[in-house]
Order: sequence, then C-alpha cells, then structure tokens
Amino acid sequence: MNIGEQQISLSDEIFRLLRDMVYEISGIYFSEDSKFIMEGRLQQSVKRKQFDNFRDYYYFLKYDQKRDEELASLIDIITIHETYFFRESQQLQTFHQEVLPELAQMETKTKRLRIWSAGCSTGEEPYTLSMLILESPLFHDWTIEIYASDISQSVLHHARRGIYQPSSFRTTDPYYQRKYFTKEESGFKIADRVKKNVTFLHLNLNDQEKWILFPRTNAIFCRNVIIYFDLSAKKKVVEGFYEKLKEGGYLFLGHSESLMNLSTHYALKHFKNDLVYQKPFLVK
Ligand SMILES: C[S@@+](CC[C@H](N)C(=O)[O-])C[C@H]1O[C@@H](n2cnc3c(N)ncnc32)[C@H](O)[C@@H]1O
Repeated sequence: MNIGEQQISLSDEIFRLLRDMVYEISGIYFSEDSKFIMEGRLQQSVKRKQFDNFRDYYYFLKYDQKRDEELASLIDIITIHETYFFRESQQLQTFHQEVLPELAQMETKTKRLRIWSAGCSTGEEPYTLSMLILESPLFHDWTIEIYASDISQSVLHHARRGIYQPSSFRTTDPYYQRKYFTKEESGFKIADRVKKNVTFLHLNLNDQEKWILFPRTNAIFCRNVIIYFDLSAKKKVVEGFYEKLKEGGYLFLGHSESLMNLSTHYALKHFKNDLVYQKPFLVK
C-alpha cells in the first residue's frame, strides 16, 4: 500500500508523549480532546520522514541525532500563525493616541523607545507598531527599537522578507497600504523606513534563560500567543515580562486574554476606549 494515501492513527499513549514533548519545548498545551488536531496536523510529517506510525516518529524526535530540524518543523506545524496588519484596532488606537504620548514623556531624556512584539508571527504586528510610531509627530529624532520574536523560524523568514498578500490587509485602512507598501509581482512589499525599526529574533518564550538578551522595554505586545499555553507556562511568561518592562511600561495582551489568576503585579490602567496592564512605578 502507498503510505502517502493512508491515514495514520495516533494512539492515546503516543499522543500524550508527543503532547508532553511539545509542552516542554514551547509551553503550548494540547488537552485530551485536541488529540485529533495533533493527529491531523502531523500526518504529513510522519509520512515525509517515511514512517508508517506515530510511535517511530516520536522515537525519532526523542532520540535521533538529527532530531533538531524535525523538532523545529514540528513546532512550526503545531503553532497557529494567524495574524494581520492593524489587528485589534481599538487597542492600537489607544496605543497610538494615549500610550505613545505617555511613553514619549517618560523617555524625553533618552529619546529612545523600545517595544517587544513577543510571538510576532509573520511580522504584521511589529510592522503595524512601526507604522504607528512613524505616524506620530513625537518621535522624529528618536531611536526606535522594535524587537520582534517568535519560536518559528519559517514565520521569521517571511517577516524578514516583508512581502504580504491581500489577506494580511483585511482590516488595514488603504491609507497605510498606499503609504508604506509597494506593489510587486509577488505581493506588497513593506517600506524600508518601516522595516528599519524592527529587529527579528528567534526566541522561545518558554526558554527564559535566553531572555537575558533582551533589554528592558517600554511596552510589550504579546497578543494571541499565551492563549495556547497552560496556566503554569502563562504565569512564567507574564512574570518574565514584568521583569523585562521598565517602570511605567505597558503589557498588551489579546482582547480575549487577561492576567486574572496569572499575576497580581500589574496595575490595570483605564484609557478612553481600552484597559491596558501597566508595570507600576516603584514608590521610593
Ligand atoms: C496567533 S500568532 C499571533 C501573532 C500576533 N501576535 C497577532 O496577534 O496577530 C501566535 C504566534 O506565537 C508564536 N508562539 C507560540 N508559542 C511560542 C513560544 N513558546 N515562543 C515564542 N513564540 C511562540 C507562534 O509561532 C505564532 O507565530
């Protein structure tokens, strides 16, 4: 039989082993009832490595000397990379109209603004932030550093290339597309002045020893990333963000996410149209 056409089934035992492996690497947790998702997503990987069952694929990932490349591919396949420019526009409006002026005040001496887009996927989020900063009159002679990180090498490759298809612009005001992109045969190319503010880095949020590379930042965007983590991985990440934020710095989560049961260190700041978590100023 041609194994290319055969549906390979994933036993409960191997599902748990694979699930624990994915969790230990990334913090992403597959509950029991999502076994079929993993089974579906990894079919092609098992076949590509010419295995006819998940057990052999698991042992390859666990013990083979050449396992690193396949582990990277596994993480790529099981992570959700959905993103687009100007996602969650109300929150971005708050960032642009209210948070940026505050940060400009806080950093008048240094004239340096640092932002971290953690779990940046194909780059639409950090490039959106870069465009919003360029649109602000407050930062013309400033040093802008936007760090954008992801666990997946393939999305980072796409982000660095900076060429996008129409679906990435599904909620973008045509003004931005006209001003900051040029149409090429392969898609819409981001302008260099947007790109030059952004540095892409390969970083696993679940591997905090590597965070040491990051300087303290004025704002962290980690939207639609930790929703896939379990409670303990979420806690570890948001406490790590706390350490990486400057006093008065802001943490932006996705709209369906909150710090409830995760951390009591942050203050919830009320803006005109949104609520944002802030690292409080220490009382001296
Ligand atoms: C759904 S996308 C969100 C992209 C963007 N933040 C947004 O809201 O549009 C989630 C991204 O988080 C990344 N991710 C998942 N687990 C991660 C981890 N442990 N470390 C770093 N990035 C991770 C995935 O690779 C994916 O690109």
